[in-house]
Amino acid sequence: IDDATPPETLSERSLDAVADFIKAGKARRIVVLTGAGISTAAGIPDFRSPDTGLYANLAALDLPEPEAVFDLSFFRTNPRPFYALAKDLYPGARYRPTVSHVFIALLARKGLLHMLFTQNIDCLEREAGIPADRIIEAHGSFAAQRCIECKREFDGEKMRASVARGEVPRCEGPAAPRDGDGHGPGDGGEGDKGGAGPRCGGLVKPDIVFFGESLPSDFFSAIPRVSEADLVLVMGTSLQVRPFANLPSMAAEGVPRVLFNLERVGDFGTRADDVLALGDCDSGVRRLAAALGWREELEAAWRAL
Ligand code: APR
Repeated sequence: IDDATPPETLSERSLDAVADFIKAGKARRIVVLTGAGISTAAGIPDFRSPDTGLYANLAALDLPEPEAVFDLSFFRTNPRPFYALAKDLYPGARYRPTVSHVFIALLARKGLLHMLFTQNIDCLEREAGIPADRIIEAHGSFAAQRCIECKREFDGEKMRASVARGEVPRCEGPAAPRDGDGHGPGDGGEGDKGGAGPRCGGLVKPDIVFFGESLPSDFFSAIPRVSEADLVLVMGTSLQVRPFANLPSMAAEGVPRVLFNLERVGDFGTRADDVLALGDCDSGVRRLAAALGWREELEAAWRAL
C-alpha cells in the first residue's frame, strides 16, 4: 500500500487514529498476537535478533543448528542443550512483566480483549493479570511437564529442582508393560506398587511445543476469534513460525492491524488500514496509551506488579 491509498476504516494510518477508533467504541473485540519481542525488556532474550537473540548465542552448545534446541528428535538424542537453556528461561521471580504485557491486561480489564495469542513460554502474560481464559499459549509453556515416552505428568517441584541444578529429569513412573509379560499399569503388576519395580526412565519435557510437535488443540479452536476481531495488535514477533504466522492475515478486510515491532514483518503494510508502529514495543504501547488517556493508569498498574 502506498501512502496515496486512503485507509478504509481509520481516519489515517497512525496510533492517534487507532486511539480515536477505540475511544469511539468501534473496537470491542481486540485480538493481540505476541512474540518474544515483548519480553526482551524483561531481560529474556528473543530468538532471532542478530546479536542478542537466543539462536545467536546457542553456538556454545554445539547444536547442528540453533533450532535443534527445540527439536523433539534432537532432544531424544541429547536433552542437555535444552536443559542448559531451560535454566535461563525457566519462569521464576527474577522476570517481571513489561509495560506491553500490562497494556494487554488493561485491555482485558476494560472488557476489550477478545483473545491474546502468545508464542512465548515465559508465562509473563499470566503474571501481568491477563485472565487465563483470554490467553492462548500457542507454543505451550513451562506450566507443566511430562514423560515423552509414557506421557505421565512429572512433579512440578522436582522439575524446578532438576532445572535449577541443570540436570535432566527422568520419568519415575512404572515401566510400560513389556510385550508378553502381561503386566501393565493397574493390574497390580510389580511396577504399580510404587516399589522397586522397573522405572519408565523416559525423558521429561515441559509442555512446550517443539518443532515436530503439533500446537495445543485450544490454539486451533480459538482461531475463529481472529476473524471476529475488530482490531488486531501484533507485538514483538518476527512472524517466522507457522501456523502462528498465519494469524494476522485472518483478520477480516477493513479491520485495522497495528504492528508494534522493531522491524516490519509478515504482510504488514499491504492493507489500507495497517498501522506500523516500528520501534520498541513498550514505547509504542506508551504512545497509544497516552493517546487513549490511559497513560497514568498504565504506569500505575505496571508499578503495582
Ligand atoms: N520491541 C519491539 N520489537 C522487538 C523488541 C522490542 N523491545 N525486541 C525484539 N523485537 C522484535 C524483533 O525485531 C523480532 O522481529 O521481536 C521479534 C522477535 O522475533 P523472534 O526472536 O523470532 O521471536 P518470535 O517471533 O517470538 O519466535 C517465534 O520461534 O523458535 C520459535 O517457538 C519459538 O515461539 C518462538 C517462535
